[in-house]
Amino acid sequence: MQTASHSPDVKFTGKSAVPSRIHVNLGEDTPDVYSFFEKVTSTWTYVVADPVSKEAAVIDPVLDYDHSSGKISTETADGILAFIHKECLTLRYILETHAHADHLTAAQHYKQSFGCAVPVCIGSRIKQVQQTFAPIYDVEPSLLDNAFDIYFRDDERFKLGDMLCKILHLPGHTPDHLGYVFGRVVFTGDSIFMPDVGSARADFPGGNVKDLYNSMQRLLSLPFDYLLFVGHDYPPERAIEDVVTVEEQRRRNKHVKAGTDEAAFTAFRSARDAQLGAPKLLHPSLQVNIRAGKLPPADAEGRVFFKVPVKTAVAL
Ligand SMILES: [Fe+2]
Repeated sequence: MQTASHSPDVKFTGKSAVPSRIHVNLGEDTPDVYSFFEKVTSTWTYVVADPVSKEAAVIDPVLDYDHSSGKISTETADGILAFIHKECLTLRYILETHAHADHLTAAQHYKQSFGCAVPVCIGSRIKQVQQTFAPIYDVEPSLLDNAFDIYFRDDERFKLGDMLCKILHLPGHTPDHLGYVFGRVVFTGDSIFMPDVGSARADFPGGNVKDLYNSMQRLLSLPFDYLLFVGHDYPPERAIEDVVTVEEQRRRNKHVKAGTDEAAFTAFRSARDAQLGAPKLLHPSLQVNIRAGKLPPADAEGRVFFKVPVKTAVAL
């Protein structure tokens, strides 16, 4: 596999972003974690770094998108790229926990910033998600065949510097959803939220409430001192938080804690999901994210459009 190091050709001249949280010295075989909160979509992007080799990965990077104007920018991503440069980290992987439906991934911008030598990675079941959404958005399926660079299998392992990362398949919110486990830190994506937020919706195509329950239980069965870093935070009257221990989730998660039975959760979650509207950025997010962060192809005049499927019972 080809990976990148900082090259003199790569320029990160912008202002470095300041992490919202910094977690270092977390223990043996456990990387440093720099957490960046993107306020518009309430998304946590993480930079994970082996403190010895300085090899790093970015998890769930966000592309700035203004829905009303259609304007895309890379300000958030560029700030984190400048941070990676300032800290003399070598970016080895761009990791997606899943095909997000609420924000656009900046994966391709990170990749292009390193001369396309850093792989964009996701779970192998992204192919199922692509098959679902390609016809909805009129995407030629063959164009998605090798959209990503690495498709992780369940329980696969890879190295970041001297640190091992284990892949956890955590379906439910989406079928392709992964967690990334480095030592005692776990990047859960949207498989669990902070204890007072609870859980993510499970009603997207391919989502499954029982699978989500089982994925949450899988996280709760990890050693009590493991640190669960969440993919979003929607704080109810408190400061934003990025991480909590397994022990605390077992004690306090408002939807699935130790002892919560499956029937109670699935009844609650299904009823709740039935009341939720579509995420504001659903259509642009999926059209970009199933393409690993690429935009739809431009037309002859160089214009790019997102499609919005219209449901109507009348012929107008
Ligand atoms: Fe999500």
